[in-house]
Amino acid sequence: MRILVTGGAGFLGSHLVDALVERGDEVVVLDDLSRGEKSQINSGARFVQGDVRLFSDWEKACEGFDPEVIHHLAAINGTRRFHKEADLVVDVNVNGTRMSLKAAKEYGSTLIFYSSPEAFGEQENMPLRNDSTSIFTPAHLHQRHSYGASKHIGELLCQFESRKGLDVRIVRPCNVYGPRLRGDDNGQVVSMMMESNPIVVHGDGLQTRSLTWIHDVTEGLLKVNDASNLSGKAFNLGTNDEISMLDLATKIANLRGVEIIHGESNHGDSKRRLPDLSMNKEIDWVAKTGLDDGLSQLL
Ligand SMILES: NC(=O)c1ccc[n+]([C@@H]2O[C@H](COP(=O)([O-])OP(=O)(O)OC[C@H]3O[C@@H](n4cnc5c(N)ncnc54)[C@H](O)[C@@H]3O)[C@@H](O)[C@H]2O)c1
Repeated sequence: MRILVTGGAGFLGSHLVDALVERGDEVVVLDDLSRGEKSQINSGARFVQGDVRLFSDWEKACEGFDPEVIHHLAAINGTRRFHKEADLVVDVNVNGTRMSLKAAKEYGSTLIFYSSPEAFGEQENMPLRNDSTSIFTPAHLHQRHSYGASKHIGELLCQFESRKGLDVRIVRPCNVYGPRLRGDDNGQVVSMMMESNPIVVHGDGLQTRSLTWIHDVTEGLLKVNDASNLSGKAFNLGTNDEISMLDLATKIANLRGVEIIHGESNHGDSKRRLPDLSMNKEIDWVAKTGLDDGLSQLL
């Protein structure tokens, strides 16, 4: 298959590209390298450096290639950036998604949009289902939801085009971890805990998350890529195994032999984020890798 992957130099995208190239797909990567690394792009894929907000860059990637499927991952990710760079988060995530839909219409492609459980904001009723309501706190309190709200708008735009006949599928990867996940200041929780010394737990650390091993997620992404009749459908690619951030820190601290300290809590951090997984029967997918297994592979 001919497949375009935006954000293919990043964490999730580079693993997806590896899996696609490995099974013989023809792959083009569109990424501006603002966060991804060129060295992470599989040498079997063609790389186009460009900005997903600019349609001229989509044309460079798509002309003469005519992708059958577009995986649209390029976005601003990393919790601290949601507060510090809210305008950029909204610009890239919303306008990049608008351009991805325009490209899918122009080149007759199926679009797979990468949303997030954060699209539900601070919804407290778990599990998060496709018919759960998104709840966002007043914007003057903090700008954490620049990301979640941008993903909610992305889903809305996808549903709008799906109703008009475009084949658009939505995936919500759930706290994915694995090699290449950024552990710097703007990074994500597992890698930050793997790299920092001491490990800083935000607030009391009793907030829970369900963590999903990268190779389980890429397997699910291939199934969403390959199945037919999925337009307008959304898949939570996650697990139901919950762990508190304090327990996670303790596990990782013991594995690494480092200390834990408590820091300030993050504004808008939800207490729990448990995905409903019932929709994944349709693609015959479950995550198989337990947390202890994943963490020891990562170490
Ligand atoms: N990692 C997770 O656990 C997780 C969970 C839910 C949703 N997602 C979604 O999956 C996607 C990939 O996430 P990730 O963790 O791999 O993030 P990442 O930051 O590692 O990758 C994003 C990639 O997009 C590129 N990019 C950013 N702005 C761009 C622009 N304007 N034009 C072109 N490329 C641009 C970056 O250079 C980077 O390579 C994102 O849409 C994210 O919101 C990820």
